[in-house]
Amino acid sequence: MNDIQTLSAPAKIILLGEHAVVYNQPAIAIPVSQIRAYATTKVSEQFSIVAQNTGEHFDLQTLNNQIDNALSSIVRNTLEQLNKPAPNVTISITSDIPVASGLGSGAAVSTVICKSIALAYETELPLETINELVYQVEKIHHGTPSGIDNTVIVYEKPVFYKRSEPLNLFEVEHHFEFLIADTGDKALTHISVGDVRKLYVSNKEKYGEIFSKIGELVLFGRKALLSGNRMLLGTLLNQNQDLLRQLTVSSERLDQLVDSALNAGALGAKLSGGGRGGNMIALVDHASREDVHHALVAAGAKNVISFSLPPENKGI
Ligand code: MEV
Repeated sequence: MNDIQTLSAPAKIILLGEHAVVYNQPAIAIPVSQIRAYATTKVSEQFSIVAQNTGEHFDLQTLNNQIDNALSSIVRNTLEQLNKPAPNVTISITSDIPVASGLGSGAAVSTVICKSIALAYETELPLETINELVYQVEKIHHGTPSGIDNTVIVYEKPVFYKRSEPLNLFEVEHHFEFLIADTGDKALTHISVGDVRKLYVSNKEKYGEIFSKIGELVLFGRKALLSGNRMLLGTLLNQNQDLLRQLTVSSERLDQLVDSALNAGALGAKLSGGGRGGNMIALVDHASREDVHHALVAAGAKNVISFSLPPENKGI
């Protein structure tokens, strides 16, 4: 390989269907290409990974000693897949994706490490293989992940995702504008997923029905995206938020941001990802975008990102 190579993977946002997707309902997720994780690979004397954001440094021995760690798992699984020893490179990771915020930072970092190791051997693994390797690591973070996060990040395309169904990527031709706002509260997906499971086990009929209702919203959501129907998509986001509240995965701060966005003219708004903290998403139109942005900041959002479909330019 060349002496230095950089590659990257995007953040993701779930538009509709989180949590229910774990129970085999469909969901829609979109890559957020302007926020990314990056890996720079340099030839060196021995294998190591440097996490630039935290200053941590992992050599092969440290990684080998950490069996259940996400970083060591993606390294080990990738090397097993390639059937090679660790290459003599240093992989430096930086990421703009906030951690534990529902934007898929773990899956994006796993993706760039996997690709970088393959690159060190001047090869590219098929996306399907990378997706499976990253999914195995997601299981360490999330317990029973649906697989939607790794899929949207690895393929970097909007995905209509249903567990155990063939990959269904799609293109959005109509223009949609969104704002993503961070509550600043870190929340671990495996905890909210575990709590939803407890609710489901306590009353399968009630919660199974909520999952089915979410699944129905997602089917309409796909139609709204494909036909450019913003009013319908906004209504579906709001209905999805109501159902997510019933699953107890919203939070006071998420509700505040959602209400502020709607009061300022958003067409719809909901939490995104595991919930209890992390990010929310609001669908806006050109006229309301500035007002909604200001309202989210005034309501205490720690960071507000503007993004639109079809996706803008990808990174490296
Ligand atoms: C997390 O981004 C999405 C959840 O539906 C969990 C999953 O699908 O694995 C909450």
